[in-house]
Formats: sequence, structure tokens, C-alpha cells
Amino acid sequence: MKSFLLLVLAALGCRAKTVTYDFNVTWVTANPDGLAERKVVGINGQWPLPLIEVDKGDQLVVNMHNGLGDRPCSIHWHGMFQNNTNYMDGASMVTQCPVPPGSSMTYNFTVNQNGTYWYHCHTDYCYPDGYRQALIVHDEHAPFKFDEEFTITMSDWYHEMVEDLSTDFMSVYNPTGAEPIPSAFLFNDTMNSSIPVEPNKTYLLRLVNIGAFVAQYFYIEGHTFKIVEIDGVYTEPTEADTLYIAVAQRYAILLTTKNQTDVNYAIVTVADSTLLDGIPEDLQLNNTNWLEYNKDAAHPQATINVTDSTELVPFDDITLVPTDKMELLPEPDMEINVTVIMNNLNTGFSYAFLNNISYTKPKVPSLYTAMSSGDLVANSEIYGEFTHPMILNHNDVVQIVVNNADGGSHPFHLHGHNFQVINRAPPYGPHFNDFLNGDPVPYDPSNHTAFPKFPARRDTFVLPPQGYVVLRFVADNPGVWIFHCHIDWHLASGLAMILIEAPQQMQERMQIPQDHLDVCQAAGVSSKGNAAADTTNFLDLKGQDAQPGWIPDGFTPRGIVALVFSILSAIIGIVSIVIYGMADVKPLMMFCLERGLHLN
Ligand SMILES: *[C@@H]1O[C@H](CO)[C@@H](O)[C@H](O)[C@H]1NC(C)=O
Ligand SMILES: *[C@@H]1O[C@H](CO)[C@@H](O)[C@H](O)[C@H]1NC(C)=O
Ligand SMILES: *[C@@H]1O[C@H](CO)[C@@H](O)[C@H](O)[C@H]1NC(C)=O
Ligand SMILES: *[C@@H]1O[C@H](CO)[C@@H](O)[C@H](O)[C@H]1NC(C)=O
Ligand SMILES: *[C@@H]1O[C@H](CO)[C@@H](O)[C@H](O)[C@H]1NC(C)=O
Ligand SMILES: *[C@@H]1O[C@H](CO)[C@@H](O)[C@H](O)[C@H]1NC(C)=O
Ligand SMILES: *[C@@H]1O[C@H](CO)[C@@H](O)[C@H](O)[C@H]1NC(C)=O
Ligand SMILES: *[C@@H]1O[C@H](CO)[C@@H](O)[C@H](O)[C@H]1NC(C)=O
Ligand SMILES: *[C@@H]1O[C@H](CO)[C@@H](O)[C@H](O)[C@H]1NC(C)=O
Ligand SMILES: *[C@@H]1O[C@H](CO)[C@@H](O)[C@H](O)[C@H]1NC(C)=O
Ligand SMILES: *[C@@H]1O[C@H](CO)[C@@H](O)[C@H](O)[C@H]1NC(C)=O
Ligand SMILES: *[C@@H]1O[C@H](CO)[C@@H](O)[C@H](O)[C@H]1NC(C)=O
Repeated sequence: MKSFLLLVLAALGCRAKTVTYDFNVTWVTANPDGLAERKVVGINGQWPLPLIEVDKGDQLVVNMHNGLGDRPCSIHWHGMFQNNTNYMDGASMVTQCPVPPGSSMTYNFTVNQNGTYWYHCHTDYCYPDGYRQALIVHDEHAPFKFDEEFTITMSDWYHEMVEDLSTDFMSVYNPTGAEPIPSAFLFNDTMNSSIPVEPNKTYLLRLVNIGAFVAQYFYIEGHTFKIVEIDGVYTEPTEADTLYIAVAQRYAILLTTKNQTDVNYAIVTVADSTLLDGIPEDLQLNNTNWLEYNKDAAHPQATINVTDSTELVPFDDITLVPTDKMELLPEPDMEINVTVIMNNLNTGFSYAFLNNISYTKPKVPSLYTAMSSGDLVANSEIYGEFTHPMILNHNDVVQIVVNNADGGSHPFHLHGHNFQVINRAPPYGPHFNDFLNGDPVPYDPSNHTAFPKFPARRDTFVLPPQGYVVLRFVADNPGVWIFHCHIDWHLASGLAMILIEAPQQMQERMQIPQDHLDVCQAAGVSSKGNAAADTTNFLDLKGQDAQPGWIPDGFTPRGIVALVFSILSAIIGIVSIVIYGMADVKPLMMFCLERGLHLN
């Protein structure tokens, strides 16, 4: 299954090898929380999925066969820059066509980065069904020492298939866009596990939140640790006791064990319950696993001294200093200023927007539009307005200001880069939810705290409720990169935009591999043309897929939501049922919504 081919780079005297995996993606069953056996996406008949491990400099080749039979898929290599290999990024309808059942695609790229990454399906909603796992890049020149290392994933887990959850999520019966509530929270794809350790040793723990929705707090009773890496960026070792790990984020920490073998300690994960619209009674928000010094000693449950996750005070990642001391980038050549909004469109469903655009897939993957557009490549119109394209000039310093007009926090991820995080308000800690008490507070360039001299860099960063973040990076990686909220429900409801970075260089430097083009043919998706798949006139967008229309004037979307919601809450109040599982009130809600839409 896994073969190694050694290439000797005589000139440099160093070795880089090719690491090859053959992935046959099929359905299997699993029961990781012991509560419900369900169908999950397996690889070569296995779940949990194989952990991918490479050394820095290696060529990673993954031959993926879609054996699911009933749906398309792809793989995104989260955090990998794909420098000159944008077409290997795995985002369906951005950099490739979805791989249909029975087809195969080879991902092949050089890994010139360090640290902790992960891979996951990036075609519609496909990773919450289990299609996700860690990807580790070992680096013999890492600037810290340890005796042994462990990789630990954490994730939310649903008992239902995404296809069922998503039809309830994007529906008239869910006008507020309440995200499906997970059934459980997993620790390395299981629960109640023990990690055996020896006394007086230093361990490198690689922590990855591979969930679809919920961030988790992490701490180990009786221990502190040192953060040494975030999202593949080494940091000056920094002492911490509690982390807040949003979906898609990674932390590597050094943990020195105690000089004893009498007691085992609880490793505690606590789900961020502020993200949940309702908490079913049987949902276990916090979980205990163990740092096991002695397998014969007791394995006590954690003593949790707080009643709500928001009382935990996590380390603020914006204060971390990268080991490479990359300085604050200069004033931007290009600024993108977007605001997160949740609203309803005339389908009655709830959508997510950056400014007034809810990302809607084009008919041709945007990279393929770029590659087939000739001289029009730098004209944003050809990508269609509903992909929310932004053209970035090669090597420009780009600043993205993300304001949050929504009351939830959002982990934003940029493909192809990590970014400097130069401002965030409110900060992690006791004041994180403060802006919820008033109107949203947008970033004000004339009134902000000082930017750090050596800003933290990572590829996924949390936007606070009703607050803002300011990010900077250099457009030095030609390609089409999607910038999106990593809560999979929000990506599906449109919280995304695409950056068309260095379009001319993209055309000059890249060539789409034939097997990727063959996938389009098998999928019946055009690999040429503008967002409307027009190959003759790239400026004619007739027939492009558009977001649904706005709700007519005179009845505001908020009004509909308020109406539906107040009736709903009244019903819920009366019969005192939990919001979760609204099936019984569907007919009434339908009635309300129709009335609401026809009132004027
Ligand atoms: C993938 O696995 C399925 C189920 O085991 C098998 O039927 C199929 O032949 C395999 N396909 C490939 C390409 O290995
Ligand atoms: C984990 O432990 C809890 C409490 O002892 C138990 O209820 C649950 O079934 C266990 N889950 C698994 C997957 O072992
Ligand atoms: C992977 O890419 C490298 C570099 O372009 C190339 O030399 C190699 O043949 C490719 N391998 C496969 C299996 O496609
Ligand atoms: C977590 O799971 C992965 C994949 O199954 C495994 O390789 C790894 O060793 C596990 N980590 C621990 C600490 O057991
Ligand atoms: C702990 O480890 C250090 C270095 O590995 C060693 O010098 C020391 O003697 C050890 N202490 C105990 C109590 O084992
Ligand atoms: C990656 O590791 C090398 C040392 O192997 C280091 O020089 C470089 O700064 C690291 N990159 C990042 C982003 O931390
Ligand atoms: C373990 O013992 C060594 C040597 O006595 C000491 O240097 C070290 O700090 C101790 N470690 C802990 C975690 O107490
Ligand atoms: C921990 O879990 C218990 C049982 O699910 C719950 O009652 C409690 O509120 C949780 N505590 C936190 C801080 O989430
Ligand atoms: C919780 O309280 C207990 C008892 O006071 C204490 O031993 C423990 O360290 C506390 N846990 C945390 C995480 O503060
Ligand atoms: C960004 O847009 C928001 C909302 O339109 C506005 O309030 C803010 O002033 C703008 N900021 C900048 C830096 O342009
Ligand atoms: C500047 O920002 C601070 C912190 O957000 C805020 O309290 C203050 O009111 C702002 N001042 C002005 C003049 O807007
Ligand atoms: C991509 O590679 C070029 C050199 O070919 C380098 O200048 C640039 O910094 C790289 N960008 C990223 C994001 O790795």
C-alpha cells in the first residue's frame, strides 16, 4: 500500500524520497463513540483513516480511487501551499472537478513545509462522514528537542449521514440557519483512551481539530506545556495551560512528564458550547482521556471546575512569535474588506455572505477558467460574480479585513498560504464575547492596537463574535485559492470567496495534468470556459449559477425570521420540546413562511 522510492540528490548531499499511497475510498462502518454504528468513508476498507507521514522535502503521491459508488469526492491537503501545483489543492469547482464514482485522480506534490497538517474531502459536504485525517511532516532540523511524539485528533461526530443533516440545514424549516448539533465529540477517533507515557520525558503532542463545526478547549490536569508550532509555523516555545482549537487548526506542544508513576492525569477536551444552538441532554460536551503514567493506577474522570466553556481562558494565539521572526509585512498594495453576514434569500433558507455575496459554485472550476481564458485571465468578470473573485497581482502585499456582523465566531482558512494575524478584537479570554452586548464593531484603521513586530502566522484563524480580524500575506503563490469559514455548514451556505492570485504567472507556469482533465469528462463538467461554461465569449455570463434572489422589499428577511421564530418559540414554549428535531412543526412553519412571503 505504501511504497518508498529513494531519490539521491547527489548535488545537495541530501535525500528526498517519494512517498506513495494508494487510496481506494469506499463506505465502511464504524462506531467510534460506542453509541451508534454508522456508515463512514473508509480508505482501503479501514476507518480511522491512515495517518499520512512524510519527511520535509518528500514528494507525496496519492492515487485516489473513488469507490463510494454514490457520490463525488476529492482531497484537500490542508495547509499545503501547493506552490506551482495549485491544481493539486483538491477543492472541487475551485481547482479541480469533483471525482465521480468509479474515477481516479493522482495527487502529486512536493512537501517543503514542516509540521502538522491534515487532509480532508473538499467536495460539497463530504468530510463530516469521516473523510479526514492528520498529515504529519517530520523535520529533522526542527528547533526543539523531544523524546517521542504523538498525534491526536479531535472532532465533533454525527450519528446521521451528512446528506440527511444538510437537507434539514438548508431548508425552510431552518430559517435561522441553526447548524446540526453533533452527537458526540471524539478524541483521536475514539473515546476514553489512554496515552502511555514514561516519567521525566519530553513528548511532542500534535493536536489537530479535524471536526466539521465545533471548536474545543484542551488542557491536561496538573500539567503545563510549551507551544512550539501553529498550523505548520514554528513558534518561540511559549508556556500555556489551555488551548482553544477551532476546526482545522493545529498546535504542536512539548509536554515534559512528571518524575512519578503513581498517578494518571486527565486530558480534558471541552466543546465550545457557544457555537451550539441547543444542547441536547445526552450530549457529552467534555471528555476525559488519560496521560497514563501507570496502567494499573486509577483513571479518574476530570474535575471540571467551570460550568460553561466560556469560563475557560485559553492561550491567545495572536501573541505567539514565529521562530523565523518574519517581520510585519509593509502597508498593503491591495486591501480586501469583507463583512460576514447571515441572511435569508427568497428560497426561505438561511445563507452566509461576505458582503452581499453568498459563494455559489461556478460551472467550470475557477482555475480551469483561468487556464482557458487567454488574455482575459485578469478580468474578474469571467469567474462570475457569485464566486466573489478578487484578482491579486503577483507579489503584492495583501490585507484582508474580515468584520463580523454575525453573533457566532468563525474559523477562517486561506488555501495556499499562511497569513500574518496583525489585529483581532476582542481577544481570546474573558472578553471574547463582549461585542455581543452591542452592535458589531468593524475594524477602524484609525483606531487599533499596535500591530505586532513579528506577527503570528497560521492558515486558520478565529474571527470573534461581532468583532474583526486583520490578516496580511504576500501574493507570491500563483493560483486560485479559496478563502472560507471552515465550519462546513457555513462553507455550504456560502461563506467563501476566491482569490485569483498572479493570474498571468498562473497561466505561464502551470499545466493541468491529463488525469485531472479526464475526471472532468467523466463527471460531465466542462474544463474550459468562464463561470457559465461559455468558451466563445468569456465575458458573457448568461446561464451562470447564481445565488437565489433577495426577499422583496416590504417584508424584510429579518421580519420573516422573527415571525417564524417567535411562533416557533411559542410552540416550543408551550409543548416544551427541544429545538432539535423540528419535524413536528414543519406544516405550521411552512404556513407561516408562505404567509410571511405574501404579506405585501
Ligand atoms: C476498491 O474497493 C472495493 C471494495 O473492496 C473493490 O470492490 C474495488 O475493486 C476496489 N477498487 C480499486 C480500484 O482498488
Ligand atoms: C467512555 O466512557 C463512558 C463513561 O465511562 C462510557 O459511558 C462510554 O460508553 C465510553 N465510550 C467508549 C466509546 O468507550
Ligand atoms: C510526480 O511529480 C513529479 C514532479 O513533477 C514527477 O517527476 C513524477 O513523475 C510524478 N509522479 C507521478 C506518479 O505522477
Ligand atoms: C491517533 O490515531 C492515529 C491514527 O489511527 C494513530 O496513528 C496515532 O498513533 C493515534 N495517537 C495516539 C496518541 O494513540
Ligand atoms: C530526568 O531526566 C533528566 C534528563 O533526561 C535526567 O538528568 C534526570 O536525572 C532525570 N530525573 C529523574 C528523577 O529521573
Ligand atoms: C521550517 O523548518 C526550517 C528548519 O528545518 C526552518 O528554518 C523554517 O523556518 C521552518 N518554517 C516555518 C514556517 O516555521
Ligand atoms: C524531574 O527531576 C529532574 C531532576 O531532579 C528535574 O530537573 C525536573 O525538573 C523534574 N521534572 C519535573 C516535571 O518535576
Ligand atoms: C461537562 O459535561 C457535563 C455532562 O455532559 C455537563 O453537565 C457540563 O456542563 C459540562 N461542562 C462544561 C464546562 O462544558
Ligand atoms: C479543579 O478543582 C480541583 C479541586 O479544587 C483542583 O484539584 C483542580 O486542579 C482544578 N482543576 C483545574 C483545571 O483548575
Ligand atoms: C470595511 O467595510 C465596513 C462595512 O462596510 C466598513 O464599516 C468599514 O469602515 C470598512 N473598513 C475599511 C478599512 O475600509
Ligand atoms: C477605539 O477602539 C476602542 C477599542 O475597541 C474603543 O473602546 C474606542 O471607543 C475607540 N475609539 C474611537 C474614537 O472610536
Ligand atoms: C512559492 O515559491 C516562490 C519561489 O518559487 C517563493 O518566492 C514563494 O515565497 C513561495 N510561496 C509560498 C506561499 O510558498
